[in-house]
Amino acid sequence: MENRLTLPVRYDGLSRLLHWVVAIIIIYAMCMGYLLHALEGTAYFQFFSVLNMTLGTLATPVMIIRFTWRFFRPSVPYPADVSVLKKKFMIFAHELFYLVIFITLISGFLMLQKGYNLFGLFPIPRPVDTLAVNEFFFVLHRYACITLGIFFLGHVFAVAKHYLAGKKSIISRMF
Ligand code: HEM
Ligand code: HEM
Repeated sequence: MENRLTLPVRYDGLSRLLHWVVAIIIIYAMCMGYLLHALEGTAYFQFFSVLNMTLGTLATPVMIIRFTWRFFRPSVPYPADVSVLKKKFMIFAHELFYLVIFITLISGFLMLQKGYNLFGLFPIPRPVDTLAVNEFFFVLHRYACITLGIFFLGHVFAVAKHYLAGKKSIISRMF
């Protein structure tokens, strides 16, 4: 008979899959977003710019599913040796992380000054055709990207710190 008292020690398969899909897209889009400055004026700019927007567009429904699934998935308690304050901090930090990701995605769309073709195939129109609004969201996108980068570094640092201190139970929650 199934032991109902056994609590999971890592996230379910869907949460892990969505975490890694979004992680790869964000790391790539972040690096390429900045590298695009070096490609300005070259034949590659258009291709990589459209690829970035396409990946960002794909990440949006994935993030909505991921965010919604958080409220329904099996809960994964932290190990007993993690203090209550630290657990609360980690939960709070993850909420903020989600917020920053959504601001990055939404501002990316609202800054568009012209439409683009998803995968070079399906036309996506410019959502707001007021230049001042687009410019505002461009500035917001820039700040959101910097904030997201800081969160990402803090996140990897925190996971690595636990891992190097011998607390492998934290990293294995997402593997
Ligand atoms: C080398 C890269 C990464 C590693 C090793 C990693 C590892 C982990 C681990 C172990 C957790 C579970 C932590 C816990 O439950 O306290 C986690 C959760 C999370 N990670 Fe990552 N991560 C990586 C990249 C990213 C990236 C790039 C993002 C987004 C920009 C991200 C966003 C998140 C979020 C939002 C959570 C909370 C999960 C939830 O509650 O659904 N991670 N990550
Ligand atoms: C996955 C989340 C995203 C990340 C990590 C990301 C990252 C970046 C970065 C780092 C830049 C350069 C910022 C700077 O120059 O200071 C940038 C620019 C830009 N982003 Fe995003 N972005 C994301 C989503 C989106 C989305 C969803 C769209 C629109 C569909 C978008 C449209 C743009 C545009 C138009 C630029 C200006 C450069 C260009 O023409 O490609 N981004 N992004």
